[in-house]
Amino acid sequence: MSSQPLKENFALVGAHGEDVAAYFYADLFSRAPAVRPMFPASMEKQQEKLLAALSAIVSLLDDPAELVPFLEDLGRRHDGLGVRPEHFPVVGASLLATLAHFSGDAWNEDLEREWAAAYGTAADVMKGALA
Ligand code: HEM
Repeated sequence: MSSQPLKENFALVGAHGEDVAAYFYADLFSRAPAVRPMFPASMEKQQEKLLAALSAIVSLLDDPAELVPFLEDLGRRHDGLGVRPEHFPVVGASLLATLAHFSGDAWNEDLEREWAAAYGTAADVMKGALA
């Protein structure tokens, strides 16, 4: 499976800048209010970090030798924050809702399926690195 459609879609969505992360966290905190206290009151820094991490992950999709250690390291950094494996599906749901929102007419079932698969793989590696 080529990662090109995901890269193109992420470029389209990423052009909306900080709005993307803001939408993502608003969506996440409405789906899962219980996770809000895990994050700092001001989400500005966190929004930048999320976009930078997603951009790094997307750029490494064809390079598992680099991507897997990156995700293991990111997973380890989530240890001790109260993040548990069962939090990953709701984060994935918010990510897909965010991508769909900013894709507009460009969104389709193929993208939805490929993003879900890519997120699932990334989440599995991160969960494996949580203690
Ligand atoms: C693919 C999935 C995820 C990605 C790409 C991601 C990305 C990030 C990044 C880049 C940071 C900044 C800190 C660092 O780089 O070490 C971070 C922090 C954090 N993440 Fe995630 N994360 C993911 C999944 C989750 C999940 C499932 C939760 C559960 C609610 C979560 C909760 C948090 C919290 C609480 C912080 C710390 C915020 C702070 O204190 O500033 N993350 N995440």
